[in-house]
Amino acid sequence: MIEFLSGMLAVEKGGVTLYEKALNDLMDEDLREQLDEFLEQTRRHVELCEEMLERAGGSAAESTPTAEAAEAKASGLMSVEVPREMTDFNNIQNLVLAETVDNWNWDRLSEMSKMVKDRELRSAIGRAVREVARQERRHVDWNTRTLAEIARQMLTSHEAKSDGEEMREEA
Ligand SMILES: [Fe+2]
Ligand SMILES: [Fe+2]
Repeated sequence: MIEFLSGMLAVEKGGVTLYEKALNDLMDEDLREQLDEFLEQTRRHVELCEEMLERAGGSAAESTPTAEAAEAKASGLMSVEVPREMTDFNNIQNLVLAETVDNWNWDRLSEMSKMVKDRELRSAIGRAVREVARQERRHVDWNTRTLAEIARQMLTSHEAKSDGEEMREEA
């Protein structure tokens, strides 16, 4: 359980840095409000994970192999560089990946909590899952939909550009 929670914490912390990066680099201002809201929620998830981890007898200060793997993945995503016009696409795609793991973790935690013997820990997990589960589903859904929309816009503008080039060649 400690190992699992430390991994979850690392994924949530990675989420915070990925939202901060998406907001820092943001090109489409229409996305800002939603990303801001999800960043705030993710910061809260970090707190919840730290609390659960401590209640389970672990410590946010100590690392575990699961946490280190999650950290390495997040920094891998952070380190990818793309051309300017791909900025939002790349950052939202990173969020789809991170949120898919995040959402899966919370589902898993909810499952695992049934086997937790410590009553206090079990009820702390129950409370956290109730607070977070719906948010996590929104995080995945919104980022996935937004990524598809950005991809569609990129394709349309790419087609418009190549149509323009064809017309110039014909003239
Ligand atoms: Fe989260
Ligand atoms: Fe999330």
